[in-house]
Amino acid sequence: MQHPSEDLKNIESLLEFYVDAGIDCFLGDSPVDWTELSRRKAAVQQKPQAAEVARQTAPAELPRIESRAPAPAAVPAQLTARSASPAKPSNPAVIPDREVVASARDQAASAASLEELRACLEAFDGCNLKLTAKKLVFADGNPEARLMFVGEAPGRDEDLQGKPFVGRSGQLLDRMLSAIGLDRSSAYIANVVPWRPPGNRTPTPQETEICKPFIRRQIELVNPDVIVFLGAASAKNLLGVQDGIRKMRGRWMKYPVSGRDVDAIATYHPAYLLRSPLEKRLSWRDFLSIRSKLSGP
Ligand code: URA
Repeated sequence: MQHPSEDLKNIESLLEFYVDAGIDCFLGDSPVDWTELSRRKAAVQQKPQAAEVARQTAPAELPRIESRAPAPAAVPAQLTARSASPAKPSNPAVIPDREVVASARDQAASAASLEELRACLEAFDGCNLKLTAKKLVFADGNPEARLMFVGEAPGRDEDLQGKPFVGRSGQLLDRMLSAIGLDRSSAYIANVVPWRPPGNRTPTPQETEICKPFIRRQIELVNPDVIVFLGAASAKNLLGVQDGIRKMRGRWMKYPVSGRDVDAIATYHPAYLLRSPLEKRLSWRDFLSIRSKLSGP
């Protein structure tokens, strides 16, 4: 007979495998409206008036985000058989994504310092990535730095350590920084999404929209002079540009921070450079350009 601790280890590694394979939600016998649950929790945490104001002031351009739940017709009959006639929830109201985003915006805006913003994120339950991530990956480096890097989302090593860019791509980023005479004490590093997506999948548009108010506030609070977007995803999400990274990289743009236009540039993501080392030549140009921007007038 197996020792109970062996059983536990097996269950743990099976669960880890599921998470790594991208399975981030478990199905029970009856349906659970998770969005309704998080709405109730958020309603308890925030003042009712704030939620109403946020709903009314949600920007019109907010993209329509598809629900991640599969359409009923797409579910094979044998999978739905057991819950063929589920009990109807007493309150069938479904929280629109807009409302979660508005609540994220409210909470991010209320943070008066980076410490408060981190605490807000630790308490925030509106993003399902938090359920599978081991740690919040908030930031690394120097909050007083003039240079800020923004990546897309943490990977496995970052999730384990709770710090951005500490895996292989982070080591490459450190080498690139050192090539222009800088290190993490002269830069601040964060991600658009602060929780690792299971199996390192791309964050969904919904997850990204929910996390965006927090990274926007984080940029405001750091108030850097130069922002470097690592990879197309972070630049597209925060600058709204639609070009691919090949076209976008190396071009100076402006990112508005509290009424000030901050110099911003996109460059290849270090993970891409690890796969395509020849492109390091172009990144090198970008880093030289970053160095002269920092030393310029
Ligand atoms: N890739 C990212 O975009 N961010 C990290 O923190 C690590 C890898």
